[in-house]
Amino acid sequence: MSILIVGASRGLGLGLVAEHLKRGFDVIATVRKPEDEAALRALPGAERLTLHLADVTSDADAARLAADLSQGLEVVFINAGVYGPSSVTEASLDDLDAVMRTNAFGPIRLAHALLGHVKPGTGVLALTSSVMGSIAETESGFGAVYRATKAAQNSLARSLWADEGRKAGITVLSVHPGWVRTDMGGPGADIDIETSVAGMADQLAAAVGRHDHRFVAYDGREIAW
Ligand SMILES: NC(=O)c1ccc[n+]([C@@H]2O[C@H](COP(=O)([O-])OP(=O)(O)OC[C@H]3O[C@@H](n4cnc5c(N)ncnc54)[C@H](OP(=O)(O)O)[C@@H]3O)[C@@H](O)[C@H]2O)c1
Repeated sequence: MSILIVGASRGLGLGLVAEHLKRGFDVIATVRKPEDEAALRALPGAERLTLHLADVTSDADAARLAADLSQGLEVVFINAGVYGPSSVTEASLDDLDAVMRTNAFGPIRLAHALLGHVKPGTGVLALTSSVMGSIAETESGFGAVYRATKAAQNSLARSLWADEGRKAGITVLSVHPGWVRTDMGGPGADIDIETSVAGMADQLAAAVGRHDHRFVAYDGREIAW
């Protein structure tokens, strides 16, 4: 079993690598900076780990990564993301463009580039979304920009599934990791990384062969779009 995890230098990405090595997977992971490889190479099971460099906003990196991968993968998990500016009116348009590129357009363009590597029939393409991207569950303007980027990512993931995903016979999953104690989630968040990544790994396993696109939390809760 093999999984590619994009955005694995720290936080949930690093946790997803550790969890899947523990579960016996061959893991391919990406970071942006070579100096971030050491923490990954120190993980138990790292003899089954291969590392690549990739920025999700780079078409050149997406093409190189797609060309470097040789085998079919059970899971491609695009996890990279940033919180971005908090105010849609006070941020510059360039800063708003940048967070949309990192959280929505970049990950989906990368997903398209990697689609041929997801095993037909049993493969799963997952993206780290957020419950904050749920329009139905939005009751506050807090994090409006971040919410919009994850809602856009969800929409783009649905379009990918509706055309190429269904044709390829794969499952697409938009996953909410919970509110997790990482650099992004902060120290006051609800759950630790280990709880989140174990739950997400269970959701990936449960998604095999469904051939649909769902928005689920790490604990299996189905989230309204
Ligand atoms: N923590 C939470 O409570 C929470 C809740 C809902 C959703 N999420 C989502 O979960 C994912 C992981 O978040 P986290 O909490 O682990 O945050 P984090 O600790 O801030 O880690 C973010 C990760 O994304 C990578 N990244 C950022 N921009 C990138 C780019 N352009 N190309 C490639 N990698 C990039 C970072 O790499 P560098 O080290 O190179 O910056 C890092 O590995 C994100 O998509 C986030 O939106 C988190």
